[in-house]
Amino acid sequence: MHNLTPSAVQLVDFYDDGEHTRHFHFRLLEEPEITTHEHHAKWRHTQTGQFFMLSVPTFGEAPFSFTEVPDENGYFRALIRRMGAVTSELFELEAGQILGARGPFGAGWPMDEIANKRILAIGGGCGLAPLVSVVNQLIEHQNYTQLSLIYGARSRQTQMLNPERERWQHIIPVYNTIEEGGVNGGDNEYMGTPSDILPTVLDSFGELPEIVLLAGPEAMMYSLAEYLVAYGISDHTIYLSIERRMHCAVGTCGHCYMESKYACTDGPTFRWDQLPKN
Ligand SMILES: Cc1cc2nc3c(=O)[nH]c(=O)nc-3n(C[C@H](O)[C@H](O)[C@H](O)COP(=O)(O)OP(=O)(O)OC[C@H]3O[C@@H](n4cnc5c(N)ncnc54)[C@H](O)[C@@H]3O)c2cc1C
Ligand code: FES
Repeated sequence: MHNLTPSAVQLVDFYDDGEHTRHFHFRLLEEPEITTHEHHAKWRHTQTGQFFMLSVPTFGEAPFSFTEVPDENGYFRALIRRMGAVTSELFELEAGQILGARGPFGAGWPMDEIANKRILAIGGGCGLAPLVSVVNQLIEHQNYTQLSLIYGARSRQTQMLNPERERWQHIIPVYNTIEEGGVNGGDNEYMGTPSDILPTVLDSFGELPEIVLLAGPEAMMYSLAEYLVAYGISDHTIYLSIERRMHCAVGTCGHCYMESKYACTDGPTFRWDQLPKN
C-alpha cells in the first residue's frame, strides 16, 4: 500500500526566470503526525532526475522535477512554468504559504553510468529543469572528463535558468541557441535550434561523447536521439527525461502507461533503446 499523503512544505521564496516561469524554493516541514522520520530520510536521499508531486490545496497536484534536490534541512528548488489550474494558483501565492508534496518518485539519471565520462547534455525550454541538478552535481564533484551543454529556447525572452547558465559558462562550454530576435554577438549564443549547433559541438569533443542526456520537448529529444545514433553514438548511452500526465506517481493509476512501462516508476529518465516509442 502506498502512502499518498503529502508532506507539508513551505513556499520559502521565488523569482521570475523566463517567460511565465518562476524558480521556486521550498522547505519540507517537520510535522510529526504525517511526516515520519523514515519519510524525511527518503526525501534526503532524492536522486537527481527524480520528481515530486506538488499539491496546492483545493487546486490539485502536478509533477515537477527538482532543480535542486532536498538538502539535509529539507530545502529544495523547482523551476515551474505557469500552465493550468495548479501552476496558475501557485503563481498567486506569497512566500510563507504551506503546500503539500509527495515524493521523491521515479528513476533518476544513472549517476554511476554517467560519472567520469565525456558528457553532452541538451535541454530545450523548461525542459532544462531536470538537467540542472545533474550538471551542478557533475561540476561540483568534477567527475567528468568532458562536459558540454546545449540549451535551446525560442527567443532570449523565453530563455530560462539564466543565473545557472551564466555560472556554468565560466566552467564548461555552454551553447545557447535561439530561433528569433537575433543573437547578442556573444561567443556562446547561436541562431537556430540545438540540432543546428549539434555537429559543431560534436566536433568540439574530439572523441564522441560517451553519454548524452536529453530533456525538453519530446519531438526535439527524439530527433536529436535519432541524429546521434546515425552519427555513431550508441543508443545504450543516450538518456532522456520523459513527461506524461500523472495522477498517482506510484504505478497504480495507469495514467502514464507507455506500452509496457510506467513513466512515473520506470521513468521519467529512460535509456533511448529501452524507451517505448509510441
Ligand atoms: C516527471 C515530470 C516532470 C515535470 N517537471 C516539470 C518542471 O520541472 N517544471 C514544469 O513547469 N513542469 C514540469 N512538468 C509538467 C507539469 O507537471 C505540467 O505542466 C502540469 O500539468 C501543470 O499542472 P497544471 O495543473 O498547472 O496544468 P494542467 O491544468 O494540468 O495542464 C495544462 C496544460 O498542460 C497539458 N499537460 C499537463 N501535463 C502534461 C504533461 N505531463 N505532458 C504534456 N502536457 C501536459 C494539459 O493537457 C494542458 O493543456 C513535469 C511533468 C512530469 C511528468
Ligand atoms: S501516474 Fe499513476 S501509474 Fe504513473
